[in-house]
Amino acid sequence: MSQKKELLLAIMQKQPVIPVLLIERLDDAIPLARALVRGGVKVLEVTLRTPIALECIKAIADAVPEAITGAGTVLDAGQFEDAEEAGAQFIVSPGVTDPLLQQADVSKIPFLPGAMTPCEIMTGHEKGYDIFKFFPAEQAGGIEYLKALSAPFSGVTFCPTGGINIAKAIRWLTLSNVICVGGSWLAPKEFVQTGQWDVITTLAHESSRLR
Ligand code: 3PG
Repeated sequence: MSQKKELLLAIMQKQPVIPVLLIERLDDAIPLARALVRGGVKVLEVTLRTPIALECIKAIADAVPEAITGAGTVLDAGQFEDAEEAGAQFIVSPGVTDPLLQQADVSKIPFLPGAMTPCEIMTGHEKGYDIFKFFPAEQAGGIEYLKALSAPFSGVTFCPTGGINIAKAIRWLTLSNVICVGGSWLAPKEFVQTGQWDVITTLAHESSRLR
């Protein structure tokens, strides 16, 4: 089994912050993606937490080809397959399960599973994985916790997500076992709902210069 590590690294090393997008109206998908891309943020994670998420992924993949759109909150193999079919270029899950790993094996796109405990990291590692989402980052123990994991798991790297904002991101990004961070703060609900795309471009621009 393998993570398609080169493909995944190429995506995760593109920018310090991956925006986690919860899109409630299909009409917002394209202007939101364009606003982020204008701010230098091309890798986008659309979470499957709204019923229109797959349509949003497809719309962005078709209309904003410079964006690299992945699907987040992928909880089972069926969602993995559906997201890939919709045009997702990578898959993110808060956890790691055998059915997800089996689906990742037959898929062409890279998979970023979540791991929070030593046992979960070891389970993923046994299957050939050494890059994980660390969720919920702030609530699960924060920077000190992840720093402590770097001793036993020296070859393992993470994308911490959950409770991170721009000020916290700066500190997370100093850790040697952090490749990038994820967060929804780049696309606050109130700005998306009111179509304040320029504000989102500014937030994206700020986050793209964090490292
Ligand atoms: C995720 O799915 O990665 C998180 O819910 C994002 O967390 P945040 O909303 O606290 O940034």
